[in-house]
Amino acid sequence: MNSNPDVKLKQNESEKEIAEKPLIDIHGKRKDGRESGDLRKIKIEVGVLHRAEGSCYLEWGGNKVMAAVYGPREAVPRHTQNPLRAIVNARYNMAAFSVDERKRPGPDRRSQEISKVISEALGHVILLERFPRASIDVSIEILDAEAGTRCAGLTAAAVALVDAGIPMKDIPVACAAGKIKDPKQNEIIVLDLGKEEDNFGDADLPVAISPRTGEILLLQMDGHLTQEEFEKALDLAIKGCHTVSELQKKAIIEKYGSMPEAK
Ligand code: CDP
Repeated sequence: MNSNPDVKLKQNESEKEIAEKPLIDIHGKRKDGRESGDLRKIKIEVGVLHRAEGSCYLEWGGNKVMAAVYGPREAVPRHTQNPLRAIVNARYNMAAFSVDERKRPGPDRRSQEISKVISEALGHVILLERFPRASIDVSIEILDAEAGTRCAGLTAAAVALVDAGIPMKDIPVACAAGKIKDPKQNEIIVLDLGKEEDNFGDADLPVAISPRTGEILLLQMDGHLTQEEFEKALDLAIKGCHTVSELQKKAIIEKYGSMPEAK
């Protein structure tokens, strides 16, 4: 640490300058230096936990996510069992220390909603009919949050499912696009919103797809987009999904030497 007060002042000034910067400048550069179509940095590690059937640790910008899979195992309580197929229980949880203002531990409406949409998205690609009466439990723990945690959580969960050997039609993947304003108040569609862009931007469109078929598994919208903006944002989010999908595959190949066959 530098104790020289002049240096400290300079550091504070530059922080202030950053805070005052527009979300995207007139040259199309975002605060963190990204262009409109750039993703944040992503790192994926497969099989990091010993006791879970499958796991994945993922960093996506400032997000840090751990996903773990248990099962398929007999669903309990028994009235939740489906005699024809397995049920998917994804549980998204944000750690109390993952956000600036301590989050009250335990489920809230937001985490219940995210758990539900992720469970449904995963349920569309898992071959559920192979495991009647079973449950496949997926824990998604957000350790550090910096916007886009549902996309990061779903992407990590998909890799953990592969690690657990759960048969799937495809490896689902998620990415968001959104809308922010430049200093001339032009609305710009950008990929993968960061924290400030999410807080102060005008719209956020998280999307999950099955990359092999292009099927949309999850689509939510926060804010307002015209039809033209919506189509542009959807296209951009899908492109982002394909890029992230390559990173998922690369991480799996690094661990296993090859990709599991699509069933
Ligand atoms: O994370 P995601 O973009 O999928 O969901 P969101 O509801 O749009 O939340 C955006 C961001 O707000 C999160 O990623 C967190 O960084 C932040 N947040 C927070 O600070 N405190 C909460 N209780 C919930 C979210």
